[in-house]
Parts: sequence; structure tokens; C-alpha cells
Amino acid sequence: MTEAIRYEKDSDNIVVLTMDMPGQSANTMNAAFTEAFDGVLTRLEKEEKLAGVVVASAKKTFFAGGDLNDLIKVTPENAEQFYQATNVIKGHLRRLEKLKAPVVAAINGAALGGGLEICLACNYRIALNDRKIKLGLPEVTLGLLPGAGGIVRMTRMLGLEAALPLLLEGKQLAPDAAKAAGIINEIADSPEDMLAKAKAWCKANANAQQPWDQKGYKVPGGTPSTPALAQKLPIIPAFLLNKTKGCYPAPEAILSAAVEGLQVDFDTAIKIEGRYFVSLATGQVSKNMINAFFFNLQEINKGASRPKGVPVKPVKKVGILGAGMMGAGIAYVSAMSGIEVVLKDISDENAQKGKDYSVKLLAKRVSKGQMTQEKADGILAKIKPTGNAADLAGCDLVVEAVFEKRELKASVTKEAEAVMDANGTFASNTSSLPITGLAEASVRPEKFIGLHFFSPVDKMPLVEIICGKKTSQETLAHALDYVLQIKKTPIVVNDARGFFTTRVIGTYVNEGLRLLAEGAAASSIEMAAARAGFPIGTLAISDELNFTTMRNIRLQAEKDLAAEGKSLPADDPSKIILDTMIDKLGRTGKLGGAGFYEYPQAGKKHLWSGLKELFNKADASIPFEDMGDRFLFIQSLEAVRCMEEGVIERVADANIGSIMGIGFPPWTGGVIQFINGYGLRKFVARAQELAARYGERFNPPALLVEKAEKGETF
Ligand code: NAI
Repeated sequence: MTEAIRYEKDSDNIVVLTMDMPGQSANTMNAAFTEAFDGVLTRLEKEEKLAGVVVASAKKTFFAGGDLNDLIKVTPENAEQFYQATNVIKGHLRRLEKLKAPVVAAINGAALGGGLEICLACNYRIALNDRKIKLGLPEVTLGLLPGAGGIVRMTRMLGLEAALPLLLEGKQLAPDAAKAAGIINEIADSPEDMLAKAKAWCKANANAQQPWDQKGYKVPGGTPSTPALAQKLPIIPAFLLNKTKGCYPAPEAILSAAVEGLQVDFDTAIKIEGRYFVSLATGQVSKNMINAFFFNLQEINKGASRPKGVPVKPVKKVGILGAGMMGAGIAYVSAMSGIEVVLKDISDENAQKGKDYSVKLLAKRVSKGQMTQEKADGILAKIKPTGNAADLAGCDLVVEAVFEKRELKASVTKEAEAVMDANGTFASNTSSLPITGLAEASVRPEKFIGLHFFSPVDKMPLVEIICGKKTSQETLAHALDYVLQIKKTPIVVNDARGFFTTRVIGTYVNEGLRLLAEGAAASSIEMAAARAGFPIGTLAISDELNFTTMRNIRLQAEKDLAAEGKSLPADDPSKIILDTMIDKLGRTGKLGGAGFYEYPQAGKKHLWSGLKELFNKADASIPFEDMGDRFLFIQSLEAVRCMEEGVIERVADANIGSIMGIGFPPWTGGVIQFINGYGLRKFVARAQELAARYGERFNPPALLVEKAEKGETF
């Protein structure tokens, strides 16, 4: 069995510590590591002629950080025990940096979070010259802070102003950027070179000491009581609040720990950091964020929804029908992942226009130094623009992104199926038409599936995969493999009008229109959404969607409902508001240059002042808190209905789909985790309260009530 930390002393009395946790693919800060670390430190402290220590790793990554399985279990009840456990590791790191010999970190792979905190407790840091290596303290993105001395050492090493952006944004830097930021000291070309450099540094710096342990040490840029810094400090919390809207406790705790920590000695600063860390780790927001961004994402990326036993079949050649906004984006992300692309439109010229989108994006990358011209040329060469369907021969996947018209989609399906690989998959990027219906045009409906991308395709991380009634398990597996191949996150849903994401966000948009119809001020509506953590206000989304498109969707829904003998409620807000906006005022949204917002040629968009006269009622007294809750609750309730109806099966898919696809606030952990975090019984009670006040759409569905009564969670 390998040792957790190997101890090898050379003839120069330099000890190389190689972290290599047995049975794990990465080194983590668990109990076994802590114990092994204690052992090697005791041995180092006893070495008589110790001339240096090099901390290295035998894994692909340097060190992975804290164990999130442990962290998510921390509660206010076991807070004291958790605090003491963090003190143990911090004590070890203090012993490491106080050894009577120089200590160097030899960083061979990613050092994020706890990994970088170990490096910060070394006197000198050398990393391999590999852009894939990432260094940083990303704890804030999980609602946490670097709790193993990361804040204390970063601020003392770089000064408050330079350290804050790294701590507050959780930036992950490649070695060259990390060196420029002052996080590491040197870059090495190979592992051998790194070890040689580390040992040479030890020999040349026999008396190395951490700056903060040296006599006369001064914090770079001064402490918070230095006038130049003291002057700037008061505005930082305001900036921060403007960004977080008060929804995220972690950035606030990081700022407090940093500023307070710089006014006291090192050991007291460590205690302050520890207390803030415990407050975050025991709080609900970190639980929500760890659940979504670690556990849910991991479940999805490990292929929990992928049918078992189907061999992986990477896509080699993808045909894309329609070189418009979506098709052009899908072509770009596919070529970027090394897939050969046939981009087909009604003419060669149209198809070329779609390819030009990739030309533009790649030129930008080259000009920013993110890619060589040669590599960009290679990617472009993979995209063949064409007006001829015969070029689709040999495609093992075809993605259709032509206009949203049923008949057109049917005809391009037939045209492509006649030439593409007969074993290949045909996918539609429809945003609203049920897949089962579209598959009727197909000669191979079992190979027909929905791949719903989000705009802009190159930036949006999510793809919603929609299974039709006849879609086979092999086809689903193939579609999932493709989405992972183009480095996007897939969620899997079943066929229904609006699928999952469109249906859920529709309730948010409608709630905004309702509030307007109830007489609430437009500015309050948008502010309530922002304060609840939504990145885009509901009225702003309506503008983006275009009022005529929204009305067309309503008309289609009315038609479909009439066929089932049902109808939309007479007070449907979209009727009142949209008809007035379109027919009486000629305001149709952003595309038309005027919607709920004004879009001045020069300057920022702002709410149209005419809304007040039109809809605002002075006596409409809707509590601000209710507005925010209405936006959150209406979407979570719709998501539960989707689960009840079998539209979505996995909680992870619902959470991630809502955050990455439609802007549900990340602090909630997603539409379903929001309910878990709120507490099911409390959630049901609040939903009933909202239903009594604002309408029965807030009535909790049976599945939710049942789970609440049984004391279960989702
Ligand atoms: P678009 O209007 O930008 O592009 C459609 C393209 O299809 C045009 O270039 C057109 O020339 C081409 N086309 C028409 N007939 C064709 C044929 N017979 N063969 C090949 N190409 C043909 O439309 P956009 O926005 O790219 O949307 C495409 C599809 O993606 C639609 O079904 C839409 O609902 C869906 N979608 C759109 C999203 C969006 O945000 N725009 C988001 C998700 C899905």
C-alpha cells in the first residue's frame, strides 16, 4: 500500500514530501491526510540538519481541497466540533511554514481551494508551465470562504486591494497569470526542472521565513487604518451589495474576514477567518450551492441519465440544417470540439454567412492571444458551408435549426434522412414544438430526438434533451454523448408543450405581467426580481422575447386548449398587457426598439415612463417581499408539476436546468433545492398563503403536500 505522504530525504538533507492518498484519484483534506500530515511534520521538526522541504504530488492534480461530502453535513449543532477540526489543519499549516528550513511547493497540477492554501503556507511556489493547470480560491462560488488560512495569507502576501478580487470572484488562473498576480513565484518547464529549481531555491534561501513572520513586516498597501486604504474601504461594501443584492453571504463574510483580519496579529486573524467560515458552512446558501454546483453537476456529468450498457459513440460528422443564429452557434461549438461540420442552408451564400459567425469568434480569440492563427484555421476548415443537401452524406448526427414552422421542419427532416448515415441520430432544436409530433415526419422516429440549445450557443452551458414517445435508449445515449463532447451540460426531459425550461420560465414572465396588470409599479417589479437574485428582470425578459412572439404562443395555446374543451382564464395578464402594448401603442419589445423599456441610441436602456400612467394603481399595495416570493415560488411550483407529470425525472436536472438555462438564482441551488432549503412544510404554508392572496396557481401540487406531510425532501 502506498503511503498518504511519502518522505524522501536526499544527500543534501532536502526532504521531498509526495502527497499520494491511497485509494483516491486526488489528494483531499480528509482525516487520513490530516493524520499523515501530522506524522511527517513531527518527523521534519526532529530532523537535525534539515536543509529544505519540497511539497509535491503524485496525482494528476496537486491537491483537491476540502471534502464536500463532509462539509455539506455541517450543521449549527456540530459547529463547534467542525471549528475545532478546521483548527487542526490550520495548526499543521502553521507548523509547515514555521519549520527551520525553506519550504517550496512544486505544483504539478490544479491547486484550487485547500490545494492553494497548502501552497500559500510554503515559502516559495513553483508551477509547471501548463495552461491546463488552474490555481485559485474558488470557495466563494460554493457559498464558502477559504477556511484554511487562505484569506489571512492572501491578504498578507498581496495586500488587501490585490487579494480581494481573487477572493471575492474565486478566479482560477493559469500559471502565467498566477505568476503575474503574485500568487506563485516561478514557472518550470518539466517536473525534473521543477524539482531542480525547488531544491536550488532551498539551498539559496536557507533562512527563508514567511513575510508575516519577519521582523518589521508591513502589509503591502497598508492595513485598513492606513489613510490611503481607509479612504477607499467604505465604498467596497456598497459595490458588493450592488452585485450580490444581499442574496450571497459568502462575499460579505470574505470582505469582513479580510478587513478585520488585517487589523490584528496572524493567529487572531486565523480565528476570525475560522468563525466566518463556520457561519457560512452551517448556513443554507452554501448547502444549496454545494448541492447544485458540485453534487448535481457531478451526477449529470457522470451520466446518471445515460441508458446503461449502450457503448459510447462519439459524433464524427454533424450536419446542421439552418445557418441562422442557432445553427451558426451549434456549428461553432461542434467544430471547436473537433467534430467535422456540414452547415446547410437554402443557398451557399446563406450557409457562408453562418460560417462567418465562427470566423468572427475565432478572430477574437486569436487577437486576445487565446489561440494561435494556425489552430483557428484548422477549426474553420472543419466547417463546410453548403446549399446542397447531398453534402449531408456520412453525417452520424443531424441537428435541425430552421425556422420554427412544423411543415418546414418536416420537409428538411425527410430531405436529410434520405442522405445521412442511416444509423445516425436526427435532432431538432425546436424551442416549443413537441418532439413526438415532429417525429411523425421521420422514417426512423426511434432515432429522432430534441436538442434544445440556448442562445447565444457559444456562451450558454446548457442543452435540454427531449425524448419523444418513440425515441430509443440508444438515441438518447448518442445525444447525451454529443452534448458532453461539445462540453455542454445536458439535462434530460420528456416531451410536453414547452418541455421543462420554457414552461418554467414562462411562469416567471407571466407573473411579471400579472403584477403589472394588478397595478404594481414597473420599477418595483424589476427591483423585486433583482433582490430575489434574478439576473434579469421579468419585464426585461418579455422585451427580449418579443411581445408578438409571446402573443403567438398564447394564441397557439388558446387553440390547443379549445381543442381540449378548455380555455385560458379571462384575466390572463398576457391578454390585457400585451394587446395594449402591441395594438394600442405599437410597442413590441427590444427588437422593435420599444417595449417595457426604452432603448436610446446612446445610453443605457431604461423603463418606459408611460407604464406608470397606463397600469400603475396608487392603491395597489403588494408587499415587496411577496413580489420576490411570487417569482421564486411560481417557478418552483411549476417544476414540481413537471415532476408530477413526468416531464422531468431527476432533481439534479431540474436544479441545473433552472440555473444554467433560465437564470433561476444560483443562491437557491435551483428550482427544487429552493423548496428543500426552505423546508417543505414551511414552503407549503407560504404557497397556500400566496394562493389565498393572489390566486390558485400558487396552490401546492399533491406531490409536494404529500412529501411535506411525510417529512421527506426531494
Ligand atoms: P434564424 O431565423 O436565425 O435561422 C433559421 C435559418 O434557417 C435561416 O438561416 C434560414 O435561411 C434557414 N432555413 C430556412 N429554410 C431552410 C431549409 N429548407 N434548409 C436549410 N436551412 C433553412 O432562426 P434561429 O433563431 O436560429 O432559430 C432556429 C430554430 O431554433 C427554431 O426552431 C427556433 O425555435 C429554435 N431555437 C431558437 C432559440 C433562439 O433563442 N433564437 C433558442 C432555442 C431554439
